[in-house]
Amino acid sequence: MKRKLLSLVCAVTMVASLLVGCGGATETADTGSADSGEAASTEASGDYADMKVGVCIYQFSDNFMTLFRNELQSYLISQGFAEGNISIVDGANDQATQTGQIDNFIASGVDVLIVNLVNSSSAPTITDKVVAAGIPLVYINREPDAEEEARWSENGWNVTYVGCDARQSGTMQGEMIVDVGLDKLDMNGNGKVDYIMIEGDPENVDAQYRTEFSVKALTDAGLEVNELADEVANWDQAQAQEKVQNALGMHGNDIEVVFCNNDAMALGALQSIQAAGRTVNEDIYLVGVDALTEVLEDVIAGTITGTVFNDHIAQSHSAADAAIKFATGGTNEYYIGCDYVKVTTENAQEVLDSLK
Ligand code: GAL
Repeated sequence: MKRKLLSLVCAVTMVASLLVGCGGATETADTGSADSGEAASTEASGDYADMKVGVCIYQFSDNFMTLFRNELQSYLISQGFAEGNISIVDGANDQATQTGQIDNFIASGVDVLIVNLVNSSSAPTITDKVVAAGIPLVYINREPDAEEEARWSENGWNVTYVGCDARQSGTMQGEMIVDVGLDKLDMNGNGKVDYIMIEGDPENVDAQYRTEFSVKALTDAGLEVNELADEVANWDQAQAQEKVQNALGMHGNDIEVVFCNNDAMALGALQSIQAAGRTVNEDIYLVGVDALTEVLEDVIAGTITGTVFNDHIAQSHSAADAAIKFATGGTNEYYIGCDYVKVTTENAQEVLDSLK
């Protein structure tokens, strides 16, 4: 297991060094609010200098999607896109707003669209209008359901999805808790692991799978579990802070583990845990997903038990590569995957260094 972990870290480190080599880590200003009419501030040199790409992000204030979109923009520029031809828009967590933005991109004649849906269930409507306009489409981060994905291959449409399998991240969260061992976990001595679950957007398969598979890893390892609370905090730090504060008020020392579907919520959970006078890795355990810098620092300091690296670098590059392939007349697989990496005190520093 350790060897596997180490090789995964090596893979992460290699990706990072490759990135520096190909200029993927270029720093660029946040043009999040740019629209397609804005003048280009960077001269593009490659073959794609005239190519226009529209990027729809479900919500700019989301920490992980901010890392993703900044890397996506840097990478597209490093591949030869003109900065002014990359339009990245904020769906403000509202599907109607995002659908309007997609209509505008279609009307302005972009060569390709990259879409992080607000609601995955809107995929059929969005796919239909984008395909009808003859524009290739790359979905990212929020996976449409199997029925929708089947339509793409059945019809031979230029539509794909780029993302990771959230079951893997949930399993890794659970495994990190299993590794702590029942002796340490079972502080109230009831023979069970008593936990609370803090969920992201419940419509999102990442939230559903992480919730299910984190706990499944415990039961698969033969541990008995007891769910004290299951709260929705929509991927958001402040909402998680409040939900965990309430749960601690209600269940107090009985809470042995806090599972958060992402790191932003783990940071909120940590604020409430500390405010309640509890100490992570001593009298409570806490895990997240994403590997945000702040959380990696907490894992190193021992104030968060562990996280899972959600590789925004590989995902954004794969999305850009797929978009380029479509826009230049090529085809893509209908699902383009990516592996998560478990992050504990053993490799957190290495992962942090690889992201700098
Ligand atoms: C997840 C990520 C969350 C949030 C969400 C948005 O993959 O872990 O932090 O960004 O995507 O859909």
